Amino acid sequence: MDHSQTRPFPASFLWGASTSAYQVEGGWNADGKGPSVIDTRTQLPAGTADVTVASDHYHRFAQDVALFAELGLRAYRFSIAWTRLIPDGDGAVNPDGVAFYHRLIDALLRAGIEPVVTMYHFDLPAGLQDKGGWSNRGTVDAFERYVRLLVSEYGAKVCHWLTINEQNTMILFGSALGLVPPGSADPQRELYRQNHHMLLAQARAMAVVHQLAPQAKVGPAPNIACVYPASCDPLDVLAADDFSAIRNWLYLDVAVHGRYNPTAWSYLVERGWAPEVSADDLATLRAGRPDFIAFNYYTSHTVAAARDDSPAAGGSGDQHLLIGEPGVYRGVDNPHLQRTGFGWEMDPIGLRNTFRQLYDRYRLPLLVTENGLGADDVLEPDGAVHDPYRIDYLHQHITQMQAALTDGVEIMGYCPWSAIDLVSTHQGMRKRYGFVYVDRGEDDLRTLDRIRKDSFHWYRRVITANGPVA
Ligand code: BG6
Repeated sequence: MDHSQTRPFPASFLWGASTSAYQVEGGWNADGKGPSVIDTRTQLPAGTADVTVASDHYHRFAQDVALFAELGLRAYRFSIAWTRLIPDGDGAVNPDGVAFYHRLIDALLRAGIEPVVTMYHFDLPAGLQDKGGWSNRGTVDAFERYVRLLVSEYGAKVCHWLTINEQNTMILFGSALGLVPPGSADPQRELYRQNHHMLLAQARAMAVVHQLAPQAKVGPAPNIACVYPASCDPLDVLAADDFSAIRNWLYLDVAVHGRYNPTAWSYLVERGWAPEVSADDLATLRAGRPDFIAFNYYTSHTVAAARDDSPAAGGSGDQHLLIGEPGVYRGVDNPHLQRTGFGWEMDPIGLRNTFRQLYDRYRLPLLVTENGLGADDVLEPDGAVHDPYRIDYLHQHITQMQAALTDGVEIMGYCPWSAIDLVSTHQGMRKRYGFVYVDRGEDDLRTLDRIRKDSFHWYRRVITANGPVA
């Protein structure tokens, strides 16, 4: 629907930007930090930057926070590395790691930037993975203990907590992120068992925040994308609905209502992948209540009815290159959408659709915690980085976000990916997302200097205007 007038963004709107610990910090073993599954993974594509130094934010956070303040950020969404605080995941606490995040949070608060903290962003402690990782129910207890530490240390300073980043990506592409223990007889069954344990961990984390920091708010942070049918063939529509249940609602129905989505559950039962769910588990799930929903959005998906040649579940290893699953759906190209240089379809209107679907289903305030364009940005000889493609992508998404706001959706804030260049999950440094360029290559660390891109100056104007600017 068209609106003759758009609704303005509220004065309290959280214009922000995002990062995650392992992708930006470096200092992978500094000051007592333990290894995570990211540090110990072995299948990194050849020639791709590792995360030992990343963007060296661990040593340069003060300079980075000053840049974020100059950018005008009202919020900075980052994650805490579990292994900095508890190096093996469930043993002794590392005071130096605890102190680092106090320094970071204090610097943000001094700069007038609200910290939005993700408790866990893909980097499970390797010490816990060695004991079975999320397949082991003991990891749920270890996570609750870690969350109690987080909230008792930082609860007086942090008003917005995110539990688990993109749990659905971890499950849908678990092999790529090193979650499946080697030799698993049925990796999908294992992943959905892990998923259930993560849902329990998340519910307990939300209860802990409400108990220890009643003034704070907490929510899940999955990757949510609207799913279009390839045509009006009822079989394509059914496939889109099935995939949306498996990809989106499975995760949020449990987080919000404490119960599994029926379509997703019957999919799990049909395949023999349904986890064991006890009466105690159900009580735990029901006791965890989010105050808002955070979500990451990069693109929509388009699917058709499955054919016999649909590939097996488990994904391509790239979270947005959809392939399909026999008997369920088949991913197809959307002829109405253009693609980024890395092959991801761009769909700003899909963001509006996704907002509306989320708000219709759950009636909770919504916070965008990732949205952005990965590109091979070029540092020009005169020291400039021109990224008009990123400005265009973000401008279109912000415009559609305002349309969703005008539709009546309650939107708390927008934190695009990423505040500063960082290491992509599987495409290294050449796939950059930041407003700030970091001078390093895949293997060559160069100066690690920070350089403001054109998008930096543009986003500052957006924040000042409290809405889209051309
Ligand atoms: C999200 C993750 O899935 O997408 C981020 O939460 C990730 O960690 C981002 O970096 C972009 O994906 P990629 O593969 O381009 O780095």
